[in-house]
Amino acid sequence: MKVLGIESSCDETGVALYDTERGLLGHAVHTQVAMHEAYGGVVPELASRDHIRRLIPLLERVLAEAGCTRGDIDAIAYTAGPGLAGALLVGASFAEALALALNVPALPVHHLEGHLLSPLLAEDAPVFPFIALLVSGGHTQLMRVTRVGDYELLGESLDDAAGEAFDKTAKLLGLGYPGGPALAKLAETGTPGRYKLPRPMINSGDLSFSFSGLKTAVLTAARARQLTDGDRADLAAEFQEAVTEVLAAKAVAACRQHRLLALVVAGGVGANRRLRQRLDQAMAKIGGRVFYPRLELCTDNGAMIAFCGAQRLLQGKLPAPGGGAFVVRPRWPLDQIC
Ligand code: KG4
Ligand code: ZN
Repeated sequence: MKVLGIESSCDETGVALYDTERGLLGHAVHTQVAMHEAYGGVVPELASRDHIRRLIPLLERVLAEAGCTRGDIDAIAYTAGPGLAGALLVGASFAEALALALNVPALPVHHLEGHLLSPLLAEDAPVFPFIALLVSGGHTQLMRVTRVGDYELLGESLDDAAGEAFDKTAKLLGLGYPGGPALAKLAETGTPGRYKLPRPMINSGDLSFSFSGLKTAVLTAARARQLTDGDRADLAAEFQEAVTEVLAAKAVAACRQHRLLALVVAGGVGANRRLRQRLDQAMAKIGGRVFYPRLELCTDNGAMIAFCGAQRLLQGKLPAPGGGAFVVRPRWPLDQIC
């Protein structure tokens, strides 16, 4: 069974074809980074318009890469939320229209579920149950994943998501958009410890996070005096240490509490090298292991959406025929999927 995946929730257009027998047959992503750069962040209206421009060429590219035609598509999965309403609507209407034309089912998919299951696309995939650390621009969550569709939220950020904290701090330090990778790059040239930043909620005894205070602490340091390039690099390094230390401590605590030795990391911040290093070390200490998606599948992509839709179909979850009607859910808690 071949499932086409469509992702358009934010600033990446992703299309992919996943075969339940042969695996990923093709995937292509267009990132809008260059377009939004001039504005210092994602402009929703521009994002939606660009998704419209990119979807058909990306579909053609993926089909060519897979050696397939439109007629080979058995189902179409698309991101129905959470995300930017207009951007989601572009992907949803494209997917629903194509499904109607091809007379195949269209499946709305939760973006975070896509991220969550993306490490299962790797050759060396984890087995259920496992703990998942979801770290994206909009979410920081720890979940217990019992099987596809069975997710228990163990803890999440009370304010900024980890990626959001990276992005906002990067902005404070005068780095461009997207801030996360830029800050991580700068951090590599700095020395942590010269500035002292807090490790928010590290001893809170629960699995909640809070990152907005860190950004304020960086702002306070930045206001104290004119920062040199060296200062900025040291602040970036300390910020990265603070975020990754808390994330690693809580992820390991979740594994311990649930007596699970497999930790899955998903979402854009999962690409952060220091985070990976810390998680690998901390999990090795308790005899556990960390599973990551392939690096290019850490950030938004269509492959995770195609894969997620395929898993749903394998479970026999066919959506009720919508007769062309569909909704997107810009806000959609993962524990409310069914
Ligand atoms: O999952 P994702 O691509 O989109 C969302 O669903 O949010 O995650 C994007 C987030 C952004 O906040 C970005 O700055 C962050 O992931 N990010 C990173 C790195 N690469 C991406 N943060 C820290 N270090 C990185 N290397
Ligand atoms: Zn995402």
